[in-house]
Amino acid sequence: MRASVNDQQDQAWNGDEGRHWADHHERWNAVNGEFNEPLLRAAAIASGDHVLDIGCGAGQTTRLAARHAGEGQVVGLDLSQAELDRARELAAAEQLANVRFVRGDAQVHPLPSGVFDAAISRFGIMFFADPVAAFANVGRSLRPGGRVALLCKADPRRCEWVRVFDVLRPFCPVPDFTIGEPGMFSLADPVTIRRVFGDAGFEQVETTLVEAPMTFGRDADDAAGFLLGSGPVRFVMEQADPAAAERVRDALSEALRPYEQPDGVRLNGAAWLITAVRPSS
Ligand SMILES: C[S@@+](CC[C@H](N)C(=O)[O-])C[C@H]1O[C@@H](n2cnc3c(N)ncnc32)[C@H](O)[C@@H]1O
Repeated sequence: MRASVNDQQDQAWNGDEGRHWADHHERWNAVNGEFNEPLLRAAAIASGDHVLDIGCGAGQTTRLAARHAGEGQVVGLDLSQAELDRARELAAAEQLANVRFVRGDAQVHPLPSGVFDAAISRFGIMFFADPVAAFANVGRSLRPGGRVALLCKADPRRCEWVRVFDVLRPFCPVPDFTIGEPGMFSLADPVTIRRVFGDAGFEQVETTLVEAPMTFGRDADDAAGFLLGSGPVRFVMEQADPAAAERVRDALSEALRPYEQPDGVRLNGAAWLITAVRPSS
């Protein structure tokens, strides 16, 4: 079986994108960390549980899950070698003995059957070419009655941070972030989520909208620099006139200025929290 069937994603997450997430893991945790509490509450991890973290990245949620799992075990699964290296380093620094990281494509990785009590993910589940196959693969790895608690991006119109892309329009073509197409917003429609998880063999599929502030930097200039290095912005900037780079940075800073608060540049994000159960029999 091929290690990955999601070649473009594999390249991106083993290229600049994964390197950016590994190098700036603290900043990405500031962006996404407000979603941790609702995710972990929904996952209801108890001591002794075996947990899978899908698309774990540098592993903040894996480490948090490990603290809840106590005598149990948590496995972080990800495509990205750079992020897994960082995840291992951070788990070792916290002396977590019940965490393991595995490189693989969650859509096809030969996960052990029926062993996990729960699977979680913080935004690691939107990138599958065949989401039904991916979630069926995850489902087989759960024990009967096992559960998932997973976060994916909701409608981009609910996400303030998506508006920063509008300031790039004079300089380069900006994607429309079409809901349902493979990528960040592939699962942004709850009807699609219920269909996909139903087809993948889950029951009791529920979607809950979670909105939270995302902190992108100390101030507008800092946040602009961070965003310019991130994958989606770099992708659109590759199509811009290199001479425009300074003007883009200035435009981005200006667009972020209204979101400056005493504790950083905060823009609202919206996610679907998906919960579902593998049938007991
Ligand atoms: C948006 S990042 C989120 C990372 C991490 N969960 C976090 O919250 O910091 C998406 C992650 O999903 C991983 N990923 C994408 N497609 C994947 C796949 N098919 N199998 C496993 N991991 C995948 C990427 O390598 C990346 O680390």
